[in-house]
Amino acid sequence: MSGPGNRAQWASNLGFLLAAAGSAVGLGNIWKFPGKAYEGGGGAFILIYIAIIALVGATVMLAEFIIGRATQKNAVGAFCQLRPAWKWVGGMGIFTGFIILCYYSHVGGWVLYYLCGYLTDAAAISADPTAYFYRMLGVGSGFPWGGAGLFPLLFAALTVFVVVKGVAGGIERLNKVAMPLLFLLLILLMVRAVTLPGAMDGLRYMLQPDFSLLTWNDVLVALGQAFFSLSLGMGIMCTYGSYLSRKENLGRNVGIICTLDTLVAVLAGFTVIPAVFATLSASGVGKGAGFVFTAMPGVFQAMPGGVFWAILFYLLLFFAALTSSISLLEGTVAYLTEQRGFSRKHASLALGVILFGIGLIYTLSQGHADIHGIWLDKNGISYPIFGDMLEFLTDRLLLPLGGLLFCIFAGWVWGTKNGIAEVRQGGRFRFPLAGLWSLLVRFVAPAAIACILIAGIVFG
Ligand code: PHE
Repeated sequence: MSGPGNRAQWASNLGFLLAAAGSAVGLGNIWKFPGKAYEGGGGAFILIYIAIIALVGATVMLAEFIIGRATQKNAVGAFCQLRPAWKWVGGMGIFTGFIILCYYSHVGGWVLYYLCGYLTDAAAISADPTAYFYRMLGVGSGFPWGGAGLFPLLFAALTVFVVVKGVAGGIERLNKVAMPLLFLLLILLMVRAVTLPGAMDGLRYMLQPDFSLLTWNDVLVALGQAFFSLSLGMGIMCTYGSYLSRKENLGRNVGIICTLDTLVAVLAGFTVIPAVFATLSASGVGKGAGFVFTAMPGVFQAMPGGVFWAILFYLLLFFAALTSSISLLEGTVAYLTEQRGFSRKHASLALGVILFGIGLIYTLSQGHADIHGIWLDKNGISYPIFGDMLEFLTDRLLLPLGGLLFCIFAGWVWGTKNGIAEVRQGGRFRFPLAGLWSLLVRFVAPAAIACILIAGIVFG
């Protein structure tokens, strides 16, 4: 176990900000959010989502940062130090993060597959985007060496490589380049999308709030999306916060990270939806993991210079996915190195192998979720159930539960007095919203999260 003296730290507050924003901004913002906003009635959903981020998301994020920085420990170590009886909450978070990482990094591999596809043979994708997607997953064509093997492996290897390089030397360095690039790419793509003929209908849909389209279910979807998007509920932000020096202002950082994450989600909504309206009509808006792989190629095909824009789009997705998957791996690696005495290199490599193996089943299961292919059915194993099970377990159950427990811990067990003192640092920082945060972390956020959990279980 490394002592506090030689523990890793971010080299600068900017580095921390970009790394935490890099964790938050991910596939969730770019493919999940636009589809959900569309289904939830566009502008109305966006307004609700922003309210939830401000009231619940920011509250839980601050709780995680406080616990991490106060202890300067990984998610399990932090609870061990404050209230050992709660260490299982950290353990549960690490387990959840790792399970998400298993499938998340495979989707990252698909993004690389498409990036390479557009760079080498764009015509093959344009010819029939849906068939191309299923081919990547090996439906009816034997084991998919590219889509399930090489590219996810490459993506996992990149994730491991950056984490092995360490907190400041790997994660911070990559994010400092990747995040500004990501913003630039997104702005370029948005300008292109909204200037397409016919894009205005999509933009209008996203800007005009029509509350009659919004259902309670959409509100719950917005809550779950907020959690996933801000990387909350699994101690990842706790771990990232633990590498931050006490000379930095936690409250302000939370404000900036939540704003950046929401901005990217909304901008992605203003890019993808107008582009789909302009090229494919409103009915082309889809959802789920397949959307950016099956619908977006159709959009690019209908655009002048589509291959160029497709390359930028998948590059954007690639950076978004990589910086998030790194944070997911770091959460587990921090635990294994600090609590279990592993070296960073061994922990990262071993986890990389395991996550690739578990993710493999996920990728193979995707192709067979709605098409009953040949390859897997012969084994008599129902892989689609495995894929659904992973997502159900993490998004609907463990994430909200983790967030709820973080709130209860910060609000009631360790207490908001300690939390507020951690932010204030003996008067170094002002924390004008301290009273509001106490109210939110003790009452509002736990109640809201309990609602998602119950609704998620009852309405499935
Ligand atoms: N927040 C990331 C996204 O929006 C995903 C993520 C979830 C990353 C949980 C870390 C932890 O894509």
